[in-house]
Amino acid sequence: MRTRRRRSRTATQRRRGARANAPAPPIVELDQATLVYPGGHVGIERVSLTVDRGEFVFLVGPTGCGKSTFIKLLIRELEPAAGAIRIAGRDINEMSRDRIPHLRRRIGTVFQDYKLLPDRTVYDNVAYALRVTGGTRAEIRRNVPDILRLVGLAGKINNYPDQLSGGEQQRVSVARAFVNHPPLLLADEPTGNLDPATSIGIMQLLYRINRTGTTVVVVTHDEVMVDKMRRRVIELYEGRVVRDQAAGLYAEDESTTEFGVRVRSELGIGEGHTNGEADGGHEAL
Ligand SMILES: Nc1ncnc2c1ncn2[C@@H]1O[C@H](COP(=O)(O)OP(=O)(O)OP(=O)(O)O)[C@@H](O)[C@H]1O
Ligand SMILES: [Mg+2]
Repeated sequence: MRTRRRRSRTATQRRRGARANAPAPPIVELDQATLVYPGGHVGIERVSLTVDRGEFVFLVGPTGCGKSTFIKLLIRELEPAAGAIRIAGRDINEMSRDRIPHLRRRIGTVFQDYKLLPDRTVYDNVAYALRVTGGTRAEIRRNVPDILRLVGLAGKINNYPDQLSGGEQQRVSVARAFVNHPPLLLADEPTGNLDPATSIGIMQLLYRINRTGTTVVVVTHDEVMVDKMRRRVIELYEGRVVRDQAAGLYAEDESTTEFGVRVRSELGIGEGHTNGEADGGHEAL
């Protein structure tokens, strides 16, 4: 009797151990996902791929190839006609509607056109994102200034969006997407409207966010930047994956600053062009 009980305890412990050691499912998984727009236009077609936790991935391809469709599927703004989309192992199209806000709280999204609230200050734009996802006043007071320092906008917290440059507005939108510290951050053409020097600053920011453990997926047309970043590249063409290239050889432990210095020098852009504030003192975040 005693022996049996001991054995059963051991079995439970073994099961627990097995669960703890089981590999976590990929943060993003598309399994033969197809989206067809009304009228029959194909957005993406039978796309299967996984993105692991902690990866930094570029999604590239010509206009109309399905990049934004891909992003919208991950936040269930669109639902696939066929196939499955899983976030952290869960099929998001089988979730009940009332779980969608929770899903979106765990995924930060940055858009090319910033989508800031024009009648609110920088501080309030970011605070608003935290408030609507259930952040308490204390969290807002603590986290908003922190995140604005991280993105290099500590000096502009009371400005309105129209008092900021394009690069600064995009930093606000990155801050807003990251203020909940989501495990997954999606950016759809975050540098589409910015000059090369400002774009590096934004990429450097996304790189820093990735180094905190957040998985980052960036849609871009900027082939030069993609080459310099040396990360995984997924290319779509007419809704299908035509290239999925693992990250090339790069220093795994390259710091954000080293990364910025290397990319700027390879692109022939001086340090002085970018907002140095974003690069100071927050490496640990
Ligand atoms: N709401 C819609 N209704 C019908 N067709 C659409 C809709 N949205 C997108 N499409 C079509 O689906 C295809 C993929 O569009 P998507 O927006 O994903 O392209 P994209 O790769 O993001 O392009 P871009 O680089 O120009 O942003 C395109 O051919 C587009 O015309
Ligand atoms: Mg698009």
